[in-house]
This record gives sequence, C-alpha cells and structure tokens, in this order.
Amino acid sequence: MMFVILFSSLFASASLTSAAAVDAGSVAQRLRTELAPHLSRHDLISTEAPPRWSSFNAPHPAVVVNVETESDVAITVKYCTSKDIPFLAQNGGSGWATTFDLGPNGVLVNLARLNQVTFNADKTQATIGGGSNISNTIAHSYAAGALIETGNCNCAGTLGAILGGGYGNLMGLYGFGVDNILSLRVVTADGQLRDVTASSYPDLFWGLRGAGPNLGIVTSAVVKSYPATEKDMEAWTGSLVFSPDKLEEVVQAIQDLELQSDMNIFMYFISGGLPANEPAIVTTPFLYKGNVTSGRAAFASLYAIGPETDNTAVIPYNQWNAGGDAFCSFGGRKPSYGAGFQNMVPKTWRETWNEYVEFQKKPTAENSVVLLEAYSLTKARSVDPNSASFPYRNVNFNAVAIPWYNDTSLDSEAQSFGNAARDLWRATDGLAQTSTYINFAHGDEDLQVVYGSSLSKLQSIKHHYDPKDQFRQWFNIN
Ligand SMILES: Cc1cc2nc3c(=O)[nH]c(=O)nc-3n(C[C@H](O)[C@H](O)[C@H](O)COP(=O)(O)OP(=O)(O)OC[C@H]3O[C@@H](n4cnc5c(N)ncnc54)[C@H](O)[C@@H]3O)c2cc1C
Ligand SMILES: *[C@@H]1O[C@H](CO)[C@@H](O)[C@H](O)[C@H]1NC(C)=O
Ligand SMILES: *[C@@H]1O[C@H](CO)[C@@H](O)[C@H](O)[C@H]1NC(C)=O
Ligand SMILES: *[C@@H]1O[C@H](CO)[C@@H](O)[C@H](O)[C@H]1NC(C)=O
Repeated sequence: MMFVILFSSLFASASLTSAAAVDAGSVAQRLRTELAPHLSRHDLISTEAPPRWSSFNAPHPAVVVNVETESDVAITVKYCTSKDIPFLAQNGGSGWATTFDLGPNGVLVNLARLNQVTFNADKTQATIGGGSNISNTIAHSYAAGALIETGNCNCAGTLGAILGGGYGNLMGLYGFGVDNILSLRVVTADGQLRDVTASSYPDLFWGLRGAGPNLGIVTSAVVKSYPATEKDMEAWTGSLVFSPDKLEEVVQAIQDLELQSDMNIFMYFISGGLPANEPAIVTTPFLYKGNVTSGRAAFASLYAIGPETDNTAVIPYNQWNAGGDAFCSFGGRKPSYGAGFQNMVPKTWRETWNEYVEFQKKPTAENSVVLLEAYSLTKARSVDPNSASFPYRNVNFNAVAIPWYNDTSLDSEAQSFGNAARDLWRATDGLAQTSTYINFAHGDEDLQVVYGSSLSKLQSIKHHYDPKDQFRQWFNIN
C-alpha cells in the first residue's frame, strides 16, 4: 500500500472540474504531465476511446488511461478522486445502461490490457483479469482443460457480467457467476488495493457480488473452475427456427419445459437475414454433454411443434458462444429494455411480437432483437440468498428488447418499442415487485427494481467505502 500513501500527497491540488470548461485535448495534456509519469509505462494516456457495443447514450471520455497493472488502476483512481475528475472503468464495453455521465472532462479507465487468465495447479481455481472479455476467458480455460461459469456472449466483459450476477450456460450446474467468486482484488474509492474475501471484508465481498461497479474497480478475481476432459467440454446446441404462426406453441413449450441442470433455452426475435430481413423466431436449446439423440429427447416438446430449420450440433466449449457473435457486433444505437418475470404467457409474447415486427421493419432497424432467456435455477437457488447482493434468484425468466438502428431520428420510436415490450412483460410478470437483472436494465428504473431487497444494505456499504460517490456511473447507489 506504500504507493497509495505517497500519491495522496502528490496529487493533493486544485480540482479539474472546478476550472471553467477545459477542452479534451488540454485534459489529455494535463494527464500526460501529471499522471503518466507515475504509471507503469509513460505512454498509457490516449484520447482514443475503445469501442462500445451501443452508441446510444454512450460515455464520451476526454481521456483514456490504458492501464496495464493493478497499480496503474489504483494510481489513476487516486489521481481522479484527488482532482474531482469523473471516471469510469470499461471492460467489454457491452453495458448499455443510460446511466453513464462522464461530462466533458471524464476519464475512461480502459481495463482491456488486464486480460490475463491463469489457473492453479489442479485447475480448480482461475484468476481472471479485470479486463478479460468472455471469449478470452473461454479461450484460456478451454486450452487449460477447465470450465468456468461465464456469460454466453464473447464480447461482454467476463467480470462486467459476473459482478451484476452472471447468467451463463453452466449455471444449472454451478450457480450464478457471483456464486463462483472466491476472492477479488479491488481498488476502492480511497485508491487502496484490497484483497476482498468473505473473511477479509465480508460486507464488500457481499456487495461486490451483485453491485460491483458501485464499490470499486476489480482488477482481478479468483473464481472456481472445473477441470474437464475433452468430452466434458462439449454441448449439444444451435438453433431451431419456427414460423411466426407457431409462436404461442413455442412460448407454451418453454413455459412447460422442466429444465434440468444441464439444460437452458433462449428464444430470439431476429431478422431472418438477407435479402428480405423478415422477422423470425429462433430458439437456441442447450444440453451440456448432449448429443443429437439426447438433445432431441430433452427438447422433444419443441421438436413436436415442427421447426422449419434445425441447426443443432455437438459443439466444443470454445465455440458455444459463436452463434451469438452477430449479437455481439459493436456500433449502432441499441437502447435496451429488460424485465424479469415468472411465466411465459403466450398472449404477452404475441403482443411483443407485434410490437417487434412494427419496429424491425423501419429503415436501418432490421437487426433489432428481442431476447428471452430460461435457465435451470435449482442449483442457484440452493445457495443462501443472503450470501451475495445479487437479489433475484427467485426470478424465472429474463427478457430484453433491443431496438438496433443507426439513425437518431428513430430514437423516440425505438424508446416507444422498448417501453411497450417492457410494459407487456411487467404487466404479466407474476412478481411481488418489478425485478430487473441489473445488467439487462435500461437505466431509468428505480434503484429498488435493480437492487431489490439488497438496496438498503448496499447503501450503507456504499456510504462507508465510497462516501464521496466516486463510482457513480452504473445504477448509482446513493
Ligand atoms: C451481446 C451481449 C450479450 C450478453 N450476454 C450476457 C450473458 O450471457 N450473461 C449475462 O449475465 N449478461 C450478459 N450481457 C449483459 C452484460 O452482463 C452487461 O452488458 C455487462 O454490463 C457487460 O459488462 P462489460 O464489461 O462488457 O461492459 P462495460 O460497459 O465495460 O461495463 C459495464 C459496467 O460494469 C463496470 N465494470 C466492468 N468491469 C468491471 C470491473 N472489472 N470492475 C468494476 N467494474 C467493472 C463498468 O465500469 C460499467 O459501469 C450481455 C450483454 C450484451 C451486450
Ligand atoms: C477479447 O479480448 C481479446 C484479448 O484481450 C481481444 O483480442 C479480442 O478482440 C476481444 N474480443 C471481443 C469480441 O471484444
Ligand atoms: C447420447 O447421450 C446419451 C446420454 O448421455 C447416451 O446414453 C448415448 O449413448 C449417446 N449417444 C451417442 C450416439 O453417443
Ligand atoms: C449502420 O452503421 C454500421 C456502422 O456503425 C454499418 O456497418 C451498417 O452497415 C449500418 N447499417 C445500415 C442499415 O445503414
């Protein structure tokens, strides 16, 4: 912690934002002079922001610090807090929430170079860098011969997804991402680097696992990993495409499926592709260690409806997410609207489809998506619900409406579509209160909606570790 003490005196001086409007170039110049000499290398300051999944309400930093070590993170946080400069960590850049507000002089702490993934000798623990995206994490774990519970899309930050809860293909077997965290290296608002475990900082350990971005920057995490043979690293998955008239039957089949621990299923409304970009209904069944016979048996009720196309196959672990790569494409406007609910209601989904079809035919909106996720939750619900701040083990299904387009003139229609879909799901959600997975939320929700019953305890932890509200960019707990 030596350098922390040193830097508190080094950086004690005038605030940047208190000065009258400073242009981005001069902010960069100031960081090059004042901050760069203290970093692990002197060329880590840039004005080029790394790409983001959605440009809708994206943060526009004046300066980017391409941190290479955890000390770089600590020193940068210390510097920004001492100068009152707003800052934000970026990992996969997939966060779509509208809560970002860096102002004109903000600093982006680009975590991308903290992408190391290492394993202990028996491969029961992996250490994941704070900037490792999911494809990078899986590439390393596949090469090592081990499985890690990550999200299902290559572009998202591994810890970006996990710190909010962490849904993924292996959660039926191993629980939520947060359930697999053993310890975290965290830079808190005071610029200290802490080893956070259940015993060293029980409150932070609880809070970070559900509300991580509000409490610090995680430079790396030790998570459980599961040694696996080649056979253990296979799944039967792919897509089954249904014609629009089958929607009610598909929805009812998903409602009635008893998902075993090795199963999950998604349903998408997406473009059926060129030339016409007709809207299509695609389901993606997943059976861990499945084959064609066991896969068809596990999802017999969907096969009975009669898919138009069947693109399922046995696929190795490092390819499971490949089907989602189009969904991962960066750029374009994607204000997204999520909701959790308890039951798949055919009428609700027909109405959602009608909203989708209307929006998706607008110019440049053909890639718009509606996504529905259904996981096996028995394992996740066997974990003590008070063990992590992630609040929604009780929620059965999550959906997101993603209007995806280029032209800002579509913004208001996109928002109407997103709101309409979300209202439909909420109206039949079967929940005692509106419950939205923080990583699927839009940004306009009350804090209660994303933090649920964890909110008041999170507020007291936040006030203790971040009294000046430095980590305020992501569903700010205040
Ligand atoms: C295509 C796509 C697929 C997705 N699939 C899944 C999925 O399968 N499962 C799932 O659970 N979610 C999924 N999500 C949602 C995803 O979890 C959120 O978008 C999440 O915020 C992405 O994190 P990121 O690091 O990519 O984004 P960023 O925008 O980089 O980060 C989002 C927020 O998290 C903070 N943050 C990120 N990393 C850290 C860190 N190391 N320490 C502290 N704060 C950090 C950032 O500061 C920011 O406030 C998906 C999203 C997209 C766009
Ligand atoms: C994921 O990270 C790797 C290595 O850090 C990088 O090469 C790759 O471009 C990233 N992929 C995505 C989809 O962001
Ligand atoms: C498919 O998987 C089932 C269940 O694991 C197994 O009994 C069966 O032998 C497998 N079939 C083939 C062709 O591998
Ligand atoms: C939208 O913009 C992206 C680049 O951000 C481009 O690749 C794509 O072709 C554009 N789509 C349309 C329909 O104009």
